[in-house]
Amino acid sequence: MTQPRFPFTSYPTGWFAVALSEELTSEAPLTLEYFGRQLVAYRGESGAAYVTDAYCPHLGAHLGHGGTVEGESIRCPFHGWRFDAQGRCDDIPYSDRIPPKAKLGSFPVREQNGIVHVFHDPQGREPWPLPALEEDGWTAGQSVVWRGLRTHPQEVFENTVDTAHIGPVHDGRQTRITEPPVRDGARMTVNIEFQAPGDVVGMYGELNDVHLEVSMYGVGCTHVRTHVTNVDVHARQQIYATPIDMERIDLRGVVQVRATDDPVFTEELAQTFYDAYCSDFAKDFPIWENKRYLDRPGLAKGDGPIGLWRKHCKQFYDEPTVVTSDVVSPRDLVGRIKERWIAPTRERLEGWLGRGSSAPSASSDGASRPPMATKAATKAAAKGTSASTRPIATAEEYFETLQDRFVPEAAKGVDAVFQWELTGDGGRTFHAQVHDGAIDIRPGPHDQPTVALVMGADDYVKVINGDLDGTWAFTNGRGKVKGSVRAAMKMRSLFPA
Ligand code: FES
Ligand SMILES: [Fe+2]
Repeated sequence: MTQPRFPFTSYPTGWFAVALSEELTSEAPLTLEYFGRQLVAYRGESGAAYVTDAYCPHLGAHLGHGGTVEGESIRCPFHGWRFDAQGRCDDIPYSDRIPPKAKLGSFPVREQNGIVHVFHDPQGREPWPLPALEEDGWTAGQSVVWRGLRTHPQEVFENTVDTAHIGPVHDGRQTRITEPPVRDGARMTVNIEFQAPGDVVGMYGELNDVHLEVSMYGVGCTHVRTHVTNVDVHARQQIYATPIDMERIDLRGVVQVRATDDPVFTEELAQTFYDAYCSDFAKDFPIWENKRYLDRPGLAKGDGPIGLWRKHCKQFYDEPTVVTSDVVSPRDLVGRIKERWIAPTRERLEGWLGRGSSAPSASSDGASRPPMATKAATKAAAKGTSASTRPIATAEEYFETLQDRFVPEAAKGVDAVFQWELTGDGGRTFHAQVHDGAIDIRPGPHDQPTVALVMGADDYVKVINGDLDGTWAFTNGRGKVKGSVRAAMKMRSLFPA
C-alpha cells in the first residue's frame, strides 16, 4: 500500500485564505473546497463576506449551485430555506417551526489586504489576531493563485526557514538568518539575507542584496517584507496556503512595492517584482509536489532552524502526527545510530546547553520524534521534576532550579567544575562543582572551571524553554564554550532539560 506523503491526521488551526476579495459578489455564492469540506462564500448586501458549509442541512442541496443571496442571508435553491450570517435557518417558506438543528456550519471571516480569510478551528476557539498590512504608500496588490498543488501548507512555509535550498532552487548566494527566529504565540518571525541574481529583474549579471523579514501566522498565512538594499527598493509579499484536502492546497500570492516619486517607474517596478515573484516561487513546486515530509529528516549544520519551525507548528494540530517513516533497513539503522552518537558538534553543544536529547530542534536529526534518552535522563524524566520541565523566566530562576535539575546517578566518577557565564540584562555567573555524585552550586566564577558556557542571559532562557534553537545560537556566534569539550558533553546527562 502506498504510504501517505504527509503524517498529519488533522487539518491545522489558523487563518487561511479562501478567496481574493475581487472574487466575491452578492450576485451568486462562490463554490469552494477546503479542509476536506464543500463550502460557499458570498458577500451580503452590506458588503460583508461570509463563508459557510455548502450542503443544506435540510436535504443536502448544494448552496453554491442555485443558492441566492438575500440581505446578509443565503437561500437554498431546493426548498427555499434561508440561513442568516451565522448559518442559522431564519425562514422556511412553508413552515412556521424551524428545527433546532437547521444550521449551516460557518467560519469566522476576516477580509483585509484584498484577501478573504477564514479562521479554521475544529474546536471553535477564539481566533488569534491577524494584523492587517498598511496600504498607504504601497502599490495596489497584484495577485496570483496556483490551484491544486500537491503539497501541504506546512511544507510551503518550512521552505522559509530551509535556508539551504535557496542556492540550489533559487540560485541565491550566501544565505543566512540574521537574527534568532522569534516565536510569539501563533507567529514566528525570521530575518534572512542573501544575494539574488539580478537576471529575474532585468539586471543581467548583477547580484542584489536582499533582506527578507518573514512573519508566519500559523501555517496558512505569511507576510514578507523585502528590502533590496543595494538599490533601496522595498516590496512585500503575502503568501497563503490553504488545504483542499490532506494532500492538495491552493496557493495565493499578493505582491506590492513601495511607491516612488515617479509613478511610471513605480508601475514598472511593481510589474517586475510581480513577474519575478511568480517565476521564482514556481521553482519550488516540482520539489514540493513530489517530496515526502520526513518525520525523521537527516539534518546537517547549515540547514536552518527547521526543527524549531516544526516544534512551533505542533500547536496548530489537535491530533498528534503519525510517523509514517518507511521500514528502516539495517544499513539505515547503523547510519542513524552513527549520526546520533557520532555527529559530534551538535551533540556537544546540546549537551553543554543542558537541553539533553529532548532539545526541540537542534538534535542531530532536528526532528520531532521522542529522543533516544540516556539512562540518567530517563531517570530524571521518571522523577517528574517540575523544576526541570517548567519554563523559566530568568537566568536567576535557572540558577535556583539547578539543584533540582541535577541527576546524581549521572555524576558517578565525574570530578569537574561547570560554569555558566550569562551576560546582559538579568545575567549572572555561577558554577557547580560536581564530585562523584555530589554537587555544590555557588554563585560567581570559579578559579579554574573545567568548562564554561558564555551566552546572553535572554538567549539562554529561550534555549532552556525551547524557544531558541541552541545549535543555531552557537553556530551563529550567540554563545561559546570554553574549556573541556568532554565535560561539556557530560552536561546533557547531569542537567537534562
Ligand atoms: S435541501 Fe435546502 S431547503 Fe431543502
Ligand atoms: Fe523556495
